[in-house]
Amino acid sequence: MKNDLSNIKKSKYLLDKNECVGIPTETVYGLAANAYSDIATSKIFRLKKRSKKNPLIVHYNNIKMLKKDCHTNDYFYKLYKKFCPGPITFVLKLKKNSNISKNVTNNKKTLAVRFPRKSIIKKLLKKLNYPLAAPSANISKNISPVSKQDVEDEFGKKIKFILDGGSSEIGLESTIISLINQPEILRLGGIEITRIKKILRSNIKYGLKKKKIASPGQEKVHYSPGIPIRLNATKAKPHEAFILIKKRKLSGKNFFYLCKNKNLKKAAKNLYKTLRMIKKKKYKNIAVEKIPNNGFGEAINDRLFRASKF
Ligand code: TXA
Ligand code: MG
Repeated sequence: MKNDLSNIKKSKYLLDKNECVGIPTETVYGLAANAYSDIATSKIFRLKKRSKKNPLIVHYNNIKMLKKDCHTNDYFYKLYKKFCPGPITFVLKLKKNSNISKNVTNNKKTLAVRFPRKSIIKKLLKKLNYPLAAPSANISKNISPVSKQDVEDEFGKKIKFILDGGSSEIGLESTIISLINQPEILRLGGIEITRIKKILRSNIKYGLKKKKIASPGQEKVHYSPGIPIRLNATKAKPHEAFILIKKRKLSGKNFFYLCKNKNLKKAAKNLYKTLRMIKKKKYKNIAVEKIPNNGFGEAINDRLFRASKF
């Protein structure tokens, strides 16, 4: 605890000086900077090798602060009440007089916002008088990091500090929902669509199948371990790492289980961790067995599909 406090102080010190800091959240680790600062936010793009066209998510501690930057609506309040703080990101209308750096929005009139749940990051946000822009803390197109070590593996000494919050409980990025017009899911993630539908009791659009990319991060090649992935495999070849949804009696040293007994939430938590482990073990090919396409399985399949486009 004492350590946490001094690490929070160190993070604040660096963020106040327009530096980037690695931050833990319940979904994945982020690469954070002052969202009001052009200098600080431009560093995020450089470090990640991210296209300036791809806008960032801004992390807030409370609605009061958010209202300085965004217009809210009924859909927002309903979802906020149920799921926040938590793994959901809202795309809202940006206010004309907001202080958000143009880098964050790519000069657009919308802003993606989220209220993270992890306590150490909430404590840090409370101490700041600006919100934090933070994309996942990986080089663009790589797998998102779910531990401090993963962030170190991505950036090495290029970033000055990573706030340690242990491993990310959810292990997959937040669900993104646009509330600009009719609610529309832009990215599957930490909250299942069925739960969102129950709260809104209205038809929500699920734009992932559309040709137009509503969320620039939803390009096909993404979340990739940089190794070819074969989906819906029934058997693996000896040189392939074989990812299985649950533990089997039969096993091999190339077998990697996402969970013990087909718990899709646990499987989602272990997905990125497993992909990184396979990469570290220097496998050149991955085979994945068919994953059920319900609940968190939908998000798992979405990430695996994009990773397989490598
Ligand atoms: O769980 C998460 O959401 C993590 C943690 C760190 O909060 N963050 C994250 O950020 O996944 P990033 O940058 O890796 O993915 C954000 C996605 C990108 O696909 C981006 O295009 C989309 O959000 N996005 C950001 N602003 C947007 C906007 N105004 N409209 C539509 N999509 C937006
Ligand atoms: Mg990302």
